[in-house]
Amino acid sequence: QSPTADVIVLFGGTGDLAQRMLFASLYFLDADGFLADDFRVIATARAEMTAEAFADQVHESIKVRAGGVDAKVWKRFSARLDYVGGDATKPAGMVALKKSLGDAKTPIFFLALSPSLFAPVCAALGEAGLGGPSSRIVLEKPIGRDLQSSIVINDAVGAVFPEQSVFRIDHYLGKETVQNLIALRFANTLFEPLWNNLTIDHVQITVAETEGVGDRWPYYDEYGALRDMVQNHMLQLLCLVAMEPPSDMAPESLRNEKVKVLRSLRPFTRADVQSISVRGQYTPGVVGGGSAAGYESERGQASNTETFVALRADIDNWRWAGVPFFLRTGKRLPERRTQIAIQFKPVPHSIFGDHAKADLVANRLVIDLQPDEDIELTLMNQAPGLTQGGMRLQSLPLSLSLLRAYSGPNARRRIAYERLLLDVMHGNGTLFVRRDEVEQAWTWIDGIEAAWADSGMVPKPYAAGSWGPAGAFALIERSERAWYD
Ligand code: BG6
Repeated sequence: QSPTADVIVLFGGTGDLAQRMLFASLYFLDADGFLADDFRVIATARAEMTAEAFADQVHESIKVRAGGVDAKVWKRFSARLDYVGGDATKPAGMVALKKSLGDAKTPIFFLALSPSLFAPVCAALGEAGLGGPSSRIVLEKPIGRDLQSSIVINDAVGAVFPEQSVFRIDHYLGKETVQNLIALRFANTLFEPLWNNLTIDHVQITVAETEGVGDRWPYYDEYGALRDMVQNHMLQLLCLVAMEPPSDMAPESLRNEKVKVLRSLRPFTRADVQSISVRGQYTPGVVGGGSAAGYESERGQASNTETFVALRADIDNWRWAGVPFFLRTGKRLPERRTQIAIQFKPVPHSIFGDHAKADLVANRLVIDLQPDEDIELTLMNQAPGLTQGGMRLQSLPLSLSLLRAYSGPNARRRIAYERLLLDVMHGNGTLFVRRDEVEQAWTWIDGIEAAWADSGMVPKPYAAGSWGPAGAFALIERSERAWYD
């Protein structure tokens, strides 16, 4: 049993992530009684500011995020808060922080910072004697831009903190609906016997966003959709769908199974990359009734960065041989939708005759993660009414709306970081990404990037508000399948 953390230090405490997500998450944890009486929250950033002025800022950002601040909870929460100004990459900058930490035994250091600062801040923590196994370090993606740069970051972090103390966040793993995938697969007997290439035809994973890149382009232009979304969030979803049952929920049990999936991903080659992947970039169009600018005008110049990617992933193992996983993600698509569709195979033989042929469709399990939380299993039924010459069939959904099922007075959509912060406090790494996982994911992604470069594949334009370039449809139709809408 790991000791419970007694303090969290938020580096980049005045930044976007901390102000939008982290303080509100900690506030909610406090409201729900998850923070011990003596748990403290220290924010640090370069700006010099009094603890009172900083608390005002935090109050404001919680108000925006939570839609109001409970005075009683705020009184308790604000008493935990402290602010330390200084340059955390320099040993001198650590002096004041160390003082504020006092005799904390199990501190959490959350680096809500640009990844270029991960290594220098870790080094400074090490020099200040704050590293080692009793501390915990939390990192956000992107961990590098490719395998090589991720190794450099992981080495620098690993020189100060042992792997069990490193918590790499993929915020998708903090989403309750994503965790529900684990429950759906392993807390039901129904699905597991069917969860393989004997019964499943293919899997689709869609992460569609209506937002554009906007003023995030300085980061985004260096990364693109493949590195920004596929390397992490989409591969995590794929792993949860495809992994073998872990023996328990211990961090290493689950992560071992995910790594095995990543290791089984078939590498892309120059010969097949054009037929199994598509890159796109949005041009001006209409999204949600409003006109939207193209990526190039947001960027201010021409760019070869993709804002859309669709690809076919094959998992070369016994369970999934012959079952393609179709992945697509993009900015400025017609709707916000994160969805996993498991398409089952058709029945081996139809007893219903030719007239019912067109009606007979194969079962499908659709798991909607965002914005609606629904699970739907389509089943064939006899369509009511009389018809001449036999039975008519109809496909109907057996549906479970998680929103409705959990709509009690206390139901609140939790911020993904609430679960993740709570787990770091208790030293539970199950929902965090292990070093070899990150590196294995990069290995596969680097292969795709290299194949794109070798074959000169540049992004194809698609109008904002459309479902990506025409090639994305051709990609899936090539195997006589279609995107599920
Ligand atoms: C981030 C990406 O990791 O995830 C963003 O950098 C993306 O580009 C975001 O918009 C999507 O997260 P969510 O929780 O809104 O689906």
